[in-house]
Amino acid sequence: MQEKIIILDFGSQTTQLIGRRLRELNVYCEIVPYNQFPHDDESVKGVILSGSPFSVYDESAFKTDLSNIRGKYPILGICYGAQFISYSNGGKVEPAGTREYGRAHLASFEKDNLLFQDVKEHSQVWMSHGDTITAIPENFKVIASTDKVRIAAYQAEGEPMWGVQFHPEVFHSEDGTQMLKNFVVGACGCHQTWSPASFVDTTVAELKEQIGHDRVILGLSGGVDSSVAAVLLNRAIGKNLTCIFVDHGLLRKDEFKNVMHDYECLGLNVIGVDASEKFFKDLEGVTDPEQKRKIIGRDFVEVFNAEAHKITDARWLAQGTIYPDRIESLNITGKVIKSHHNVGGLPEEMNLKLCEPLQWLFKDEVRRVGRELGIPDHLISRHPFPGPGLAVRILGEITREKVRILQDADDIFIKGLWEWKVKEEDGTETALYHKVWQAGAILLPVQSVGVMGDERTYERAVALRAVTSTDAMTADWAHLPYEFLGKISNDIINKVKGVNRVCYDISSKPPSTIEWE
Ligand code: XMP
Repeated sequence: MQEKIIILDFGSQTTQLIGRRLRELNVYCEIVPYNQFPHDDESVKGVILSGSPFSVYDESAFKTDLSNIRGKYPILGICYGAQFISYSNGGKVEPAGTREYGRAHLASFEKDNLLFQDVKEHSQVWMSHGDTITAIPENFKVIASTDKVRIAAYQAEGEPMWGVQFHPEVFHSEDGTQMLKNFVVGACGCHQTWSPASFVDTTVAELKEQIGHDRVILGLSGGVDSSVAAVLLNRAIGKNLTCIFVDHGLLRKDEFKNVMHDYECLGLNVIGVDASEKFFKDLEGVTDPEQKRKIIGRDFVEVFNAEAHKITDARWLAQGTIYPDRIESLNITGKVIKSHHNVGGLPEEMNLKLCEPLQWLFKDEVRRVGRELGIPDHLISRHPFPGPGLAVRILGEITREKVRILQDADDIFIKGLWEWKVKEEDGTETALYHKVWQAGAILLPVQSVGVMGDERTYERAVALRAVTSTDAMTADWAHLPYEFLGKISNDIINKVKGVNRVCYDISSKPPSTIEWE
């Protein structure tokens, strides 16, 4: 059985980060809404209460009954979590005179407390709250103070229950990971055995059990998540998995052909459907970005479903849904989980059951699992690519000719990123491609004057976009070397017929977005 830590989510923006840190410690965890503790799950080893945008004394604050948890598991409350435990046991929480935000240092702490083992003197911690605990319940003791906050951390006397008003999960809390380790390993007794290899073994066994001899359909996109899900399922059920890869004609240059080849090498049973004719026809004359997305989404579902229907004995639909697709921190409106369908809608009348083997993984874990499964690096380290493909990178109407021009320019840019090497501090070389989160070219709806040889030209402009990011929620434009940009610009203008100008997009998100449409 996979031992786990449960993180009760009270809505903080950093709840997911707590999960990340534990996984980095090779400890498996699951984030659940604050009031949905899995009481019947025997693999739970400990519980963490997250922060929250609320104050404990707000009428609408998220509250939960801890009486069946306390005494049964070690507990750690973080920020609101700490305030909630204290408040609900008779302690006092009040608005802080000044909002505690940013860096603070542990001015004093109980050095032999289990939570602070191997924590440095004066260690920096990160505060972010408008309230502060001004009195703790009688049987609690203060175990750390900062310069401004007397009750920075407490423990219930003689009990494995702690509260910290700072955020150990954020990068700026220097010994935060150590404190989390002290809790999950020291107090909860977790074995730090969570690894890609253990995930593959457990999941393949579970999939075999869950699916048996049923037939499964999976929509492949060429991206990392669906590819890893497919290879994992293939390992569990072999030829009973049928993958469908729809080509809408808006993929990167030669992508359909190359990816189909990769999939065949991986031993996958894939049906490739060239539906580009239909997509181009339905997109004719359409210029509005939202309209384009709607048409592509609708057509995609139609084509996918038509193929799926041919597999009459299918019982399951598998998807490459990953953890961040499913969880969204609780927000004030009470919405808990994002709806997410990689294939845009299930063929309902087929009565398929849903199988999402990557649903508990973060993106980098999916990549580690993919490597463990022997998927080649060029597939695993691929940048994200939008579902509607180049359609959202061609501003204005989409035609085959414009797609050809953009594919050629994009191909030069992406191949260039792979070929350009950057020296690392340890002397090794890394492709520039790995230094950016996502990159691509955009075809602009403008023509401008240029000169080639003795000829005046009046041709298209292409914008290059490359961003750094960790989750696509925010992004900065990548500071690519000028020499590299110069080379790519030259190559595009010299080799791609129809383009005489190249620009580089230096907007960050927000206020811009990564894609132009
Ligand atoms: P934006 O442009 O919103 O993009 O900053 C954030 C991330 O989402 C990708 N993206 C999409 N992915 N279908 C997808 O599967 C879409 O319609 C879509 N639109 C944007 C984008 O490439 C970036 O990684």
